[in-house]
Amino acid sequence: MEANPKIPQHVTIIMDGNGRWAKSRGHERLVGHKEGAESVRACLELAVELKIKYLSLFAFSTENWGRPEQEIQGLWSLLLEYINKETPYMLENHVRFMVAGNVEQLPEYLRIAIRDVTEATAASDGTTLVLMLNYSGKWDIVQAANRFAQENPGRQMSWEDMDSYLATSGIPDPDLLIRTSGEERISNYMLWQTAYTEFYFTDILWPDFRKPEFRCALEAYSKRERRFGKL
Ligand code: FPP
Repeated sequence: MEANPKIPQHVTIIMDGNGRWAKSRGHERLVGHKEGAESVRACLELAVELKIKYLSLFAFSTENWGRPEQEIQGLWSLLLEYINKETPYMLENHVRFMVAGNVEQLPEYLRIAIRDVTEATAASDGTTLVLMLNYSGKWDIVQAANRFAQENPGRQMSWEDMDSYLATSGIPDPDLLIRTSGEERISNYMLWQTAYTEFYFTDILWPDFRKPEFRCALEAYSKRERRFGKL
């Protein structure tokens, strides 16, 4: 049976606005990230329910290293907590967990947790959750080009080669990109992979983006006409 074209196969989200959400309530930024982790859970649940094949989330960009050390460490702890807390849910619901990005620069305890949950869920055939961690679009294109050149001396690179050397290799390009918090930019995210992606921007801050808001985005997507440059 053909997949329902109204339901995107791959949804990617730039989760933005955690800091503003916290600030407007007089809290530290990390409180916003914590609440944002609840939105991650809610969106994953809906993706599972609707059988969305891939949900990828921009969790940490290569530019985020410029944030205060305390916030960065707080984000790593939160990610570890998320992985530990959500692994049973993932296993029960056939969610496959993956990470794409420059993982080598992450703290060892986090790399171990990522390796373990990736291995534990490798055979899951439901929704794949991809955390984009220490990722940027320019980093990805450059690492793909360099690796290709090293492994294929003297050969010209094709589009298909680029697809298979990117950190997202094996994952179809996103059908829908959602960015929360009113910012309407790609911010060095999946630059190559979003060539024909539909964009959906909302003013809602990430910690407030839950199932009803996700449904709204999917509803808007279902009304788009996609022509991929053809008539
Ligand atoms: C952007 O908001 C958000 C981030 C840089 C981090 C995203 C992290 C989470 C949602 C935490 C948990 C993630 C997982 C996968 C469990 P911002 O801090 O730039 O917000 P601002 O623009 O309002 O300052």
